[in-house]
Order: sequence, then C-alpha cells, then structure tokens
Amino acid sequence: MTDIIRDAETTGKERKRLFIKTYGCQMNVYDSERMRDVLAPLGYEPADEPDGADLVILNTCHIREKAAEKVYSELGRLKTLKEEKASTGKPMTITVAGCVAQAEGAEIQRRAPVVDLVVGPQTYHKLPELIANVHRERGEALDTEFEVEEKFDALATPERHVDGFTAFVTVQEGCDKFCTFCVVPYTRGAEWSRPVDQIVAEVRALAAKGVREVTLLGQNVNAFHGEAPKGDPEGGVWGLGRLVRHLAKIGGIERIRFTTSHPKDMDDDLIQAFADEPKLMPYFHLPVQAGSDKILKSMNRSHTAAEYLDIIARLRAARPDIAISGDMIVGFPGETEADFEATMELVRQVNYASCFSFKYSKRPGTPGAAMFNQIDETVKGERLARLQALLTEQQVAFNQSMIGKTLPVLFEREGRFEGQLSGRSPYLQAVHCEGPVELIGQIANVEITGATKNALSGRLATKESAAA
Ligand code: 5AD
Ligand code: SF4
Repeated sequence: MTDIIRDAETTGKERKRLFIKTYGCQMNVYDSERMRDVLAPLGYEPADEPDGADLVILNTCHIREKAAEKVYSELGRLKTLKEEKASTGKPMTITVAGCVAQAEGAEIQRRAPVVDLVVGPQTYHKLPELIANVHRERGEALDTEFEVEEKFDALATPERHVDGFTAFVTVQEGCDKFCTFCVVPYTRGAEWSRPVDQIVAEVRALAAKGVREVTLLGQNVNAFHGEAPKGDPEGGVWGLGRLVRHLAKIGGIERIRFTTSHPKDMDDDLIQAFADEPKLMPYFHLPVQAGSDKILKSMNRSHTAAEYLDIIARLRAARPDIAISGDMIVGFPGETEADFEATMELVRQVNYASCFSFKYSKRPGTPGAAMFNQIDETVKGERLARLQALLTEQQVAFNQSMIGKTLPVLFEREGRFEGQLSGRSPYLQAVHCEGPVELIGQIANVEITGATKNALSGRLATKESAAA
C-alpha cells in the first residue's frame, strides 16, 4: 500500500479523475463515499461525468433484475468512452463493484470484456492495490471474498470526506434471514455488527465536520449487536436502542435515523427509544412485503401480518406521531387475488406515510426463482398499479395533514429557486421555504402551508407562531 501511494506521489502529480455511479440502496451510497475516500490519497478526484475519466466505478445493485440489467447497458455506453480515451493514448480503467460484482463476477467479465476489475462489497479497502495491479498488467483481477471485519478496520473512519450536514454510517452489514425472494444474504454475506467504539469514533468525526443528522445503515439494522465500548463495566454486546441513546449524547448530533429494520428483530428497548429519545426521529421504515400469512410464510419472513400490525401499534403507543414507511412486493409466486387483497387490507390498516412497492422479480439462485407457481407479468402489473394508487393516496393525505403545523426543519441546501432553502422535516419529508442561506446546516421552525405527494412548502416561523 505504501508503495502504491509513493507511486502516485511520484508519477501522478497530474490529477486523476474518478467517476463513480451508484445504483440501489443507501448502503451502496455509503460504500461509494468510502471508495472515494480510499482512492483520494492516490490522487483521484471526483468527476461528475464519465467522459475522459481515468477510473470509472459502477457500484451496482442486484436486488431486482432491472437493476442488474442497467449495469450492462451502462457498460455498453462506457465502452465507447473507453475507446475514445484510448485513441488519445490514455487508458480508462473500468471497475464493477457492489452486489452484481459479488453475484456475477466471472459472468461480467465474460459478457463485458471492457471491464478491467470486479470487486465485491467486502473488498473495497483493497481497491488501491487492485487498481495498481490492473495498471501494472492491464490484465484482469477478481476479488470478491467475504472479509467484512477487515473491510471496516481498513476503511478507517475519521478520514471521511463530508459533504453537507447529513451522513450515512454503516453499523451492520449482511443478512441471515434468507427471505426466499432476496439476493442480499448471498451478495452481502452473513450478518455482522461493527463494534460500538468504531461507530462512536466515526460519528464524533462527522459531528466535528458539521454533520447534524446521521442515518445508521444496515441490511438488518435492528438486529445490531455490536461489541460494547471498551470500559463498559457490563461488556458484552449492545442493541440498537442502546447505541442510539449513546450516539444522541455526541455534541452536534441533533437527529438520528436508522434503516432498514426487520419485524422479527424489533425489541422493546428500541420501541421505547422512540418514546424517550427526542433525537431519534419519528419516522420508521419497517418492510412487511405482503399482507397474506400464506405468502409471508412462503417468503420465509418468520412473522405474520398480525405480528407486524402489533409492532406498529406498539410504536404508535410509544410515539403517537410516528410516520411509518415500508416495502411491498406484489406477485410473489402463488399470490392469489385473495392474498393480494390481504396486502391491500394491511396497507389500509397501517396507513403508510410512504411505502416502496415492487413487482416480484425472479432472482437466480434464490428459492423463489425455483417456485413453480410464478405469476403472470400482466397480473403483477395490474396489482402493482392498484397498490400504488392506494399508497399514493395515503402519502398525499399524510403530507396534507402537515398543513397548519409548525415543523422543525434541518436545512440542507439552497432550493431550486432564488432565495429558497431546502431541508427535511422530522418525518423525512422534503420541505421548501424562503430563507437566508445562513440557516443551511441549522434546524429552524417552518409553518407548513402547502403539500404535494413529494414535498411540503411553508414559511419560516416567527417566535410567536412557533410557540403556538
Ligand atoms: N423482487 C422484488 N422486490 C424485491 N425486493 C427484494 N428482493 C426483491 C425481488 N426479488 C424488495 C423488497 C426489499 C427491497 C429493498 O427490495 O421489498 O425490502
Ligand atoms: Fe433480504 Fe429478507 Fe434479509 Fe431483508 S431480511 S435483506 S429482504 S433476506
């Protein structure tokens, strides 16, 4: 590694351009930022476009077929750019990272010889070394082993480059649940939690750089069980509720969120944290996937619809204004009209503030893909449209219920129009209002006067109106 850095320092006085395209979940967004951080000492500076870049990384998603296929079309476009660059005598190194890399490593290099390097999610800390190998040999390299602990040790946290006032922090990775539709246990490996000390160091460093809101990430974030901090008299492991309360004490951190949770891992302490930790925002993403117990069983979700609804009721008892968000899949193998109606009924009972919904997509290697009773694409499309109409209605109603309220908004940036600021409410809604740029990075009260499906608008509250 030192050799590589020296190599960059002596030969690479000219700046190198790095373009990273991120697909899929927030975990990938976080990983892309870490890749940018490990490559910065080698002279790589972020570029907004792939044209002319020295290194292009596609950080990919394998969760649904569409997401995976997008990578191959992007590689087709990159091939032209790589050829154009080669004609000027300079190489472009193309790397595929992320879950497609993990799941289809060899296949990628067979289908797209334009790719120089394939790296799975657990080996990003080795990127400088792997890229140096490519440069040395202009040959192939493949590194997709599972070594999650090593990854986090090596991607040492305090060096993080920070853009803005909100940041993601990975606290847990991987999944042992094996829902029968999902590739994550195969691409991200077994469940693993970061030690509390490491997370605290990262959040402190972020706070020192001005970050006000952290979102704790994990594929099964509420299954978090990280090693207790050194010096904790009880030792052992901490759950997510305890971690949240501890992080809330870090000066400068005003808001904490976490995603994504699984109903099976919900514990009383975490529910209680919504009641008594004001920095934990009243917004909770808890996917259920379906409303029929028969389908939930076949999905291997290990909970029923009634158990899910009971958790929602307990959360609402703890924090009456909590906004619930979720994920739904329609057209899982064997889903009858009655099963789909059970999903619609569950949605009516929960009344979501926002919810993602997808048509079931067959993923190679998962048990769902081998089930014989697959659903016709037209039926899936028609059910998805009905579900989305209901979810849109709920989301619009939730946003409109904010009109007339005064909400604390963390302003993150200037808005699209002159003099406008843009931020987020506690319920993760985008909020736009006029205000001075000095408010960026701060929390201020906004009287909400308008609402659409995707955003709220309002005006800065005066002291008197905020007190009302
Ligand atoms: N088909 C459709 N949606 C899927 N998801 C995961 N796997 C699939 C699949 N094979 C959805 C789930 C999950 C979200 C991240 O993506 O709803 O919660
Ligand atoms: Fe996939 Fe299920 Fe694990 Fe979520 S809990 S990552 S849906 S296997």
